[in-house]
Amino acid sequence: MKFVRNILITGGAGFIGSHVVRLFVNKYPDYHIINLDKLTYAGNLANLEDIEDSPNYTFVKADICDFDTVLNLFKEYAIDGVIHLAAESHVDRSIKDPFTFAQTNVMGTLSLLQAAKVCWDDHFEDKRFYHISTDEVYGSLNQEGTFFTEKTSYDPHSPYSASKASSDHFVRAFHDTYGLPTIVTNCSNNYGPYQFPEKLIPLFINNIRHQKPLPVYGKGLNVRDWLYVVDHARAIDLIFHKGKIAETYNIGGFNEWKNIDLIKIIVKTVDRLLGFAPGSSERLITYVTDRAGHDLRYAIDSNKLKNELGWEPSLQFEEGIEETVRWYLEHQEWMDRITSGEYENYYKGMYSNR
Ligand code: NAD
Ligand code: TYD
Repeated sequence: MKFVRNILITGGAGFIGSHVVRLFVNKYPDYHIINLDKLTYAGNLANLEDIEDSPNYTFVKADICDFDTVLNLFKEYAIDGVIHLAAESHVDRSIKDPFTFAQTNVMGTLSLLQAAKVCWDDHFEDKRFYHISTDEVYGSLNQEGTFFTEKTSYDPHSPYSASKASSDHFVRAFHDTYGLPTIVTNCSNNYGPYQFPEKLIPLFINNIRHQKPLPVYGKGLNVRDWLYVVDHARAIDLIFHKGKIAETYNIGGFNEWKNIDLIKIIVKTVDRLLGFAPGSSERLITYVTDRAGHDLRYAIDSNKLKNELGWEPSLQFEEGIEETVRWYLEHQEWMDRITSGEYENYYKGMYSNR
C-alpha cells in the first residue's frame, strides 16, 4: 500500500508515546506509523497490543543514539515527519545516573536531527521534525500567580531537565543553522493509563492497593500542573499538522495541585473503588527525605496554543483521575508484570535509605 505520509514516532512504547502512536494509527489509516523504541525498562509493547497488527503500523527496536541505524530507517521508510518522544524521563533516575540522560536525551536527539538533515538533504518542503519536551526546562516558579510562557528563560535544575533543555537547544539550532523544519512543545506533568509506576500517580495507586507506604518527598508542598495524557496526544496531533515551523508551544492543563492534596484525592478514590473505609489509606502517607534540587512549582500558560490553534484540555481533572484510578485497578496484570521485574529491584535500592 502506498501511504500519504511516513511518520517516525520515537519512544512509542512508552507512556505518552503509546497514546500518540494509538491516536495516529487509528485516525490516519493512510499514514505509515513507524515506532522506533529501544524498549528500555520504560518501554513496553503491551501498551500497544490493541494496534500492533494494524496494516499502517511498524515497530522497530533500535536505539536513537545509533546514527547509522537511524539514518537507514529514514531512507528505508522514506520518513517525512518525526515526532520525537524517546527519552529517559524520570527525575529521580537522572539524579542517580545523569550519564544515561545526557546520552539518550542529548546525543539521541542529535542523532535524529542529523539523520533528518542528511536524509532530507535540504528538501524540507512538507517535512517536519517535532520534538516533545517538558515544562521542567523552565525551572521552578517560586511565586504564586506566575506561569511559564514560551518566552520564559530556561533554568533547568535536575539532570533530567538539563538534558531536555540541551536537546531543545539542539533542535532550535538545527532550524536556525540548517533550516530544518522543527517545532518544540513543552508540556506539564501527564497522567493516565500506561504510565510506568515509578511516577507519582501510578506508584501511589499501586501502593495503596497493596497497602504499602506512600513516600511523600519533603512536606508534600510542591506544585505540579497535571494534564490527561490523551489530551496531550490530541495537542501533539494538532501541532504536528497545524503548528508553525520554528515555533514553541506550551501545553498545560490549567490544573495545579500541591502534591499532598493530589495524594489525598488518589487515596480517597482508590479507597472508594476498592471498598476500603473512606480515607483509611491516608495512614500510609510517609514523609521521606526530599528529592535533591526538588523544583517547588511548575505552572504552564498554554494560551498561545489555545488562541492560535484552538486546543484546550477536554477532560476535567476529577473525571481524568477517576478514569485513571479505575484503569490501573482493572489492569493489575499489566502492573504486576512491570513491578515483578527489574523495576522492583531498582525501587528497593532507591528507597532503602529513606
Ligand atoms: P517514558 O519513560 O514512559 O517512555 C520513554 C520511551 O522512550 C520508552 O518506551 C523507552 O523505551 C524509549 N527510549 C528510551 N531511551 C531510548 C533510546 N535510547 N532509543 C530509543 N528509545 C528509547 O516517557 P514518557 O513519560 O512517555 O515521556 C515521553 C516524552 O515526553 C519524553 O521526551 C519526556 O521528556 C516528555 N514529557 C513527559 C512528560 C510526563 O509527564 N511524562 C511531560 C512532558 C514531557
Ligand atoms: P514525578 O511523578 O516523578 O514527576 P516530576 O518529578 O517529573 O514532576 O513526581 C511528581 C511530584 O511528586 C514531584 O514533586 C515529586 C513528587 N513525588 C513524591 O513525593 N513521591 C514519590 O514517590 C514520587 C515518585 C514523586
